[in-house]
Amino acid sequence: MHSQRKFSICTAMLLLVALATAFLPIRAQTPSTYQATLAIRLDQPGAVINRNLYGQFAEHLGRLIYEGLWVGEGSPIPNTRGLRNDVVAALKELHVPLLRWPGGCFADEYHWRDGIGPRDKRPRRPNASWGGVDTNAFGTHEFLDLCEMLGADAYINGNVGSGTPQEMMDWIEYMTSDADSELANLRRSNGREKPWKIPYFAVGNETWGCGGNMRPEYYADVYRRYATFIKNHSGNRIQKLAAGGYDNNYNWTEVLMAQAAKQMDGLSLHYYTLPTGKWEKKGSATQFDEKEWHSTLLRALRIDEYIQKHSAIMDKYDPEKRVGLMVDEWGTWYDSEPGRDMGALYQQNSLRDAIVAGISLNIFNQHADRVRMANIAQMVNVLQAMILTDKDKVVLTPTYHVFRMYRVHQGATLIPIELKSPEYKLGDAAVPALNVSSSRDAEGRLHLSVVNLNATRTAEITTTFSGGTFKNVTGEVLTAGAVNAINTFDQPNAVRPQPFSAAKLQGSQLTLSIPAKSVVVLELK
Ligand code: AHR
Repeated sequence: MHSQRKFSICTAMLLLVALATAFLPIRAQTPSTYQATLAIRLDQPGAVINRNLYGQFAEHLGRLIYEGLWVGEGSPIPNTRGLRNDVVAALKELHVPLLRWPGGCFADEYHWRDGIGPRDKRPRRPNASWGGVDTNAFGTHEFLDLCEMLGADAYINGNVGSGTPQEMMDWIEYMTSDADSELANLRRSNGREKPWKIPYFAVGNETWGCGGNMRPEYYADVYRRYATFIKNHSGNRIQKLAAGGYDNNYNWTEVLMAQAAKQMDGLSLHYYTLPTGKWEKKGSATQFDEKEWHSTLLRALRIDEYIQKHSAIMDKYDPEKRVGLMVDEWGTWYDSEPGRDMGALYQQNSLRDAIVAGISLNIFNQHADRVRMANIAQMVNVLQAMILTDKDKVVLTPTYHVFRMYRVHQGATLIPIELKSPEYKLGDAAVPALNVSSSRDAEGRLHLSVVNLNATRTAEITTTFSGGTFKNVTGEVLTAGAVNAINTFDQPNAVRPQPFSAAKLQGSQLTLSIPAKSVVVLELK
């Protein structure tokens, strides 16, 4: 018995050695680190990064407005004037600069008069875009109260698809006029004496699709007509936004810019990242391998090319870059979880989403000269959300943490970089292994956000500066053991930022060891 056991231990050890030897050549071909260089050009400061690149989007869809934000004054969930305290407190940490509402597709079926006055008298209407019935308990006053709580600018998306210029014009007067007029007095009688400031107003949403199935030539004229009736009252100054195209729909941008650029302050662009690129089978939010990790990041990176090409068209008609490119819907979109209401667009959020957020925000920063606004879709419980709720419980997603880490870029000056990094290859597909952006704030601090897309290898980066030196570096890193790591109500801190200590500053050289599949944000003083 004893000698038999000894024999089997020996056999097992021999087997282990044989296995390890068999895998050695593979390990040698795929070392656990790769080298990159980064030059930071402090001597060539770029455009100011508009804080609105860090904007959010809240549509009447699924459990975003009702439950995610609004629980009502009588709810046992602690709230302030009906808005849940836990969610608002978490959002305040993000310094949300701007909030878009009420849609999306819902905007083109929304009639603002349904959402004012005593709540028990407001009509219940079917939500034709996303299903269910909307009680209209959350309307103009509730939305603008939320914006004030968050310190966020309001971006209202007007109804073109099923609304009139008169309805749009009246809504703006109701919200922004200080006159002794019927609509301003109606607002006062509904409890708001002072007018609100509304800095952004859009004329329809996706007017090529759910917003009216229009041709660009037709919408250009519709836009010009409606935009004429967006009036400035009592010192309010509205930036007028036209509904733009999607992905590589360059013709939409060409026609809108040719025919209506003079009447607009911004033109939108929508881009969603689908792991497979196919709407009929997008891919799972949590069940994926390295191949789908790679294909998702490859697709997320495409927004760079789309922004460049839409911007080039805009440059032809607007070389001074007066009109902003507003990426007012972006983010990941997965298949709905089995057993969930498909119309609710609820999805889990993993480390992969954090990487997509880091990449996308870096790209927006790099295009700060033309991109003046971006709104992730969407804020709570819908698509690539910051926060998930389950009745009274909340969990912060990996994407939330990226927005919290990146808030330092808001309003800072873009600092150009020169990055030399190898590709991250999988099969026939390749993406740059690193994605970086950098900015300098008013106090002279430099912020560097570095994303390592490689799922298995650490990036060893040698960084040099021209035009400045720093004495001190600190940072945070967001990563996890698995590419599909998630936060749940039971384990809310599985993916959360940790202090970053793998940065060494010696004279004018900084060396960084950026872990595989991570987002790192550094501050240099
Ligand atoms: O964000 C979800 C939907 O996606 C929006 O309502 C619409 O504008 C887009 O197609």
